[in-house]
Amino acid sequence: MNDAPLLETRNLTRRFGALRAVDDVSFSVAAGQVYGIAGPNGSGKSTLFNVITGIPFRPSSGEVLLSGQPIHRMRPHEISRAGVLRTFQKDAEFASLSAFENVYTSAV
Ligand SMILES: Nc1ncnc2c1ncn2[C@@H]1O[C@H](COP(=O)(O)OP(=O)(O)OP(=O)(O)O)[C@@H](O)[C@H]1O
Ligand SMILES: [Mg+2]
Repeated sequence: MNDAPLLETRNLTRRFGALRAVDDVSFSVAAGQVYGIAGPNGSGKSTLFNVITGIPFRPSSGEVLLSGQPIHRMRPHEISRAGVLRTFQKDAEFASLSAFENVYTSAV
């Protein structure tokens, strides 16, 4: 049996030049636990979700583990297929596609 947390970050950091948008963040979430993340504008909430999912970029340093297995070096679609999904702060559709095509494109 795997006793590792469902999701864990270790010293997760994302730099943009001199700015540390996510700075040495470590936490763990067990199966069944539900957490939110709060903070003022620009405090790094979206960047945290970005680097956990790899969309659109990876962490500068640190680790993300899913059930004890590192996922931070995986490609975004591999992280998604492993079960770590996200939504976006600003949603947008492909205007040239139909509603069905938009949903289909997102699912594959
Ligand atoms: N791609 C990027 N390039 C450079 N700087 C970035 C980038 N993305 C975010 N930042 C900077 O990182 C910091 C954290 O931004 P982030 O969007 O994660 O904050 P947030 O907590 O989600 O804010 P909000 O509440 O406005 O959604 C900000 O200073 C932002 O300008
Ligand atoms: Mg945000």
